[in-house]
Amino acid sequence: MLTNNPTAGHYIGIDIGGTGIKGGLVNLEQGIVQGTLTHLPTPQPATPEQVSEVVAHITDELTAGTNPVNHFAPVGVTYPGIVRHGISRSAANMDKAFINLDINTLFTERLNRPVSVINDADAAGLAEARCGAGKGTKGTVLVITLGTGIGSALIFDGQLVPNAELGHLSIDGFDAEIKASAVAREREGLTWKEYSARLQRYFSELEFIFSPELIIIGGGISQRTNEYLPHLNLRTPIVPATLRNEAGIYGAAMQAATARTLLTGVA
Ligand code: BGC
Repeated sequence: MLTNNPTAGHYIGIDIGGTGIKGGLVNLEQGIVQGTLTHLPTPQPATPEQVSEVVAHITDELTAGTNPVNHFAPVGVTYPGIVRHGISRSAANMDKAFINLDINTLFTERLNRPVSVINDADAAGLAEARCGAGKGTKGTVLVITLGTGIGSALIFDGQLVPNAELGHLSIDGFDAEIKASAVAREREGLTWKEYSARLQRYFSELEFIFSPELIIIGGGISQRTNEYLPHLNLRTPIVPATLRNEAGIYGAAMQAATARTLLTGVA
């Protein structure tokens, strides 16, 4: 199969965030992100045209002068909102022009190669659950990313239930991400103990609803779990993500691979 399919295993993953866009070459067969990552700031305003320019630029930079196989490699892109069949259905932290836009088609035409888009937390969560902190865990795994908003991935036996949007659960009359995202802590100048009380309320609710086997915390704040995990009292094991800033890129590449298989029947 490899000889008939020279691009097998080679993908490009691009992770769009509120402040930065980063990408990497991913070899899924070897399970690694190859070489160095390319980063650029997210354009402001983050309109579809401006964002697709940056995604194209990163793709060119990643592939320039590398193995020709990368010039045909399918691209997976994360998007920080609901994505159904390539169409964005929300834009909590992006320009509203993204709402109801066919992002798969926009990026595919701009990059002139197959592009498949996935929710950012779904991508990072899938990668974490299958290859990171959740590797080998059966049953329900929740991956919660604490950043500008709260992203979530609901995984069962390694399979993603897409677009869970658990950051928008209404708790005590508030959208959870307004009170418990990493940015909410900074915006309100909360101490770690005060912030931990909000996380306790949020994670207790998730634990009650899903009875998960494992909760994984992602986002930049996952590197500071010693500040808040000791204050949490949950029945469920709760651990930091291990793939760090590569999780989104890796998950985006997994999405590109899934889309390719659906289209061609070839993995
Ligand atoms: C969005 C999610 C996204 C999360 C993290 C939330 O506001 O609704 O779709 O995954 O932010 O970017």
